[in-house]
Amino acid sequence: MRSALSTEMGRAIEHHVRIASTQERARSLADAGHEMLVVADEQTAGHGRHGRPWLAPAGTALLASWVFRPLPADPSLFALLAGVAVARALGRLGVSDARVKWPNDVQLVGKKVAGVLADAVTSADGGALVLGIGINVHQAAAQLGDLAATATSLAIEGHALDRLALLARVDAELRRITGDVDARRAFLDEWRTRSATLGHEVEVRSSDGAAVRGLARAVADDGALVLSTASGERRILAGEVAHLR
Ligand code: BTN
Repeated sequence: MRSALSTEMGRAIEHHVRIASTQERARSLADAGHEMLVVADEQTAGHGRHGRPWLAPAGTALLASWVFRPLPADPSLFALLAGVAVARALGRLGVSDARVKWPNDVQLVGKKVAGVLADAVTSADGGALVLGIGINVHQAAAQLGDLAATATSLAIEGHALDRLALLARVDAELRRITGDVDARRAFLDEWRTRSATLGHEVEVRSSDGAAVRGLARAVADDGALVLSTASGERRILAGEVAHLR
């Protein structure tokens, strides 16, 4: 369903009360050459990074996928910066203490409140980046189940935010990073300032199961995590990070 919001936000928006996954819908729109935003109140097969499910009861989470054209040269950097866009959007709505965990989680009080998924779609006309964002807005702790040990929602942390207002703010921040290089630099600097990862001993596990341990020393300009390990410096481009201390 096309949404009246489209006019208000100056972007083509498709709103679904219920859909399998906004990310899958946005990917097929990207394949068909469109540039737009897909939003849903509920997903029946939402998914996160590393093939994990992304679950949220109807109406409790901000669930949205943006299609940006063309595909940028550094899609994983955009995923990192999108985490900052979420943190900044929260800040503008009075939630000032959001931090980012490499590569693209947003945390409140050390627990995950939002996640970003970046998919590259290639095509002869320059391709597209599909950026999916899920933000836990209204969930009560009981609705998070076992995840409550490591995840939270804005409501649990005492913030009563409107999903639509949050969507508009996130969209405005994403516009900045897609718009100009200087903004991207500023967002990356802000990632470093808001980082929950830098300065910690971490273990990074890649999709093939290999693990690397070291001190998270820096985030490079391309978004790579720079680790000091027992065998020297390592640049990590993708993986799952566990903070050891
Ligand atoms: C993560 O694992 O942290 C990324 C989570 C991304 C979830 C969002 S919700 C909207 C969009 N649709 C999906 O199926 N996934 C992303």
